[in-house]
Amino acid sequence: MTQSRSRWNLSRRQLLSGVAAGAVANFMPSLTAPALAGTPDYTLKTKLSSVQLLDPGEPKTDVWSYQGLSPGPILRAKQGEPFWVKLQNELSEPTTIHWHGIRIDNAMDGVPDLTQAAVPPGGTFDYRYTPKDAGTYWYHSHYRGYEQVARGLNGVLIVEEREPPMVDQDIVLAFDDWRLKDSGEIHDESFGSLMDRSHAGRLGNILTLNGAPLFDVPVRSGERVRLRLANVATARVFNISFPGHAPKIIALDGQPVAPFDAGKEDLLLGPGQRIDVIMDMISAPGQKTPIQVDTGRETLIAGHIVYKAGAPPKQQVRKSFDGLPANPLPENVNLSQALDVDIVMTGGAMSSFEQAVYRGKNFPARQLAREHGQVWALNGVAGMPKAPLFSAARGRVVRIKMSNKTRWPHAMHFHGHHVREVARSQGTVRPHWRDTVHMEPDEDITVAFIADNPGKWLIHCHMLAHQLGGMITWFEVG
Ligand code: C2O
Ligand code: CU
Repeated sequence: MTQSRSRWNLSRRQLLSGVAAGAVANFMPSLTAPALAGTPDYTLKTKLSSVQLLDPGEPKTDVWSYQGLSPGPILRAKQGEPFWVKLQNELSEPTTIHWHGIRIDNAMDGVPDLTQAAVPPGGTFDYRYTPKDAGTYWYHSHYRGYEQVARGLNGVLIVEEREPPMVDQDIVLAFDDWRLKDSGEIHDESFGSLMDRSHAGRLGNILTLNGAPLFDVPVRSGERVRLRLANVATARVFNISFPGHAPKIIALDGQPVAPFDAGKEDLLLGPGQRIDVIMDMISAPGQKTPIQVDTGRETLIAGHIVYKAGAPPKQQVRKSFDGLPANPLPENVNLSQALDVDIVMTGGAMSSFEQAVYRGKNFPARQLAREHGQVWALNGVAGMPKAPLFSAARGRVVRIKMSNKTRWPHAMHFHGHHVREVARSQGTVRPHWRDTVHMEPDEDITVAFIADNPGKWLIHCHMLAHQLGGMITWFEVG
């Protein structure tokens, strides 16, 4: 198997062998006020804040936060009910919010220059929409995302089911990695670096879980918990495991699946992806289980599941879990009349294209990299094209064959729609609805969807330095 997820130069203290016992949970629940008529459900103020990403006692880090937090507050919306978030920009540069995975009205999608004007410093914007689908989603800046998201502008959005499943706890686990200096400062010199653009993206050296260097999840023996795993990093791929426990996958990128036991690589999260699991707390009181993150080279600890000591195990008869209620997406997509589209991904280090089109002109690879920082191409076109990759009549079935002809993994994200895998070149088809598709080098994956959401929608790699380096296009639904 191709092993291209590489070095993770995280600090020694986080290596499996040397983890300190005490962990600090600096994660705070949402700052919401009850919704009143005529007021937003949430206000998200972007601003500079100082947070503890390194171990306690080490320097703090200045980040760009929502409401002082990174990740931002957990937002909770209700399926099928109007939702309103007011963005208040107190940064010294523009920003927007994209609601990743939400099948949203185009005007609320948060893409500067495509769906809205960026919100200037001091400006506000009202994001109002009614989420069709329940599940685990997230929100993040889409203005210079490779820098703003990496500086902290991201958070988890939960759309609650009308009838949520019975669990004892519902816990968000948002994994991030940061590139920090020893002083605790964000390594800003590397934002936009050509090196990161053309390789694996801007990988970090510090792992955090819910914004903490080590995050503890307190549980009681016998409980059943729902975990909402999210990768909010801009480049890093995380493979999560909970030794001695048997997580059952119940949703991928927000969309329910028939529950299945998570096998070895099943809790692999590419940037932007989410996985919901149900897990029974089967260890004894007083036990502690690491939350492990594997990169293929190193295993790190992001935190622990900490069983309350001395508490008598909860006596509860556990039924098997039947799955989440379905979202309004079809079981199958009828491919007989599909509009066929190819996306051939080329470029990057070690197998660069020879030339590509950028803003309508043809450039040799070297010149394109040097003068425009463009190192990736989709169908020979680098960067955001003027014309859409394709236009589809509303309701048309679209089938897209994506071929990764680069030496790097990518996380291809679709705006406004979920796509269903219908074929793949390696292994068996995973016929799930996803908004972000993780692809290994040399892999071809074909997805299909119904283009039922009118507007202009991006397709891009969610390794955000790759997006910046050219891996971006868009389509239009009429
Ligand atoms: Cu989560 Cu276009 O991004
Ligand atoms: Cu990529």
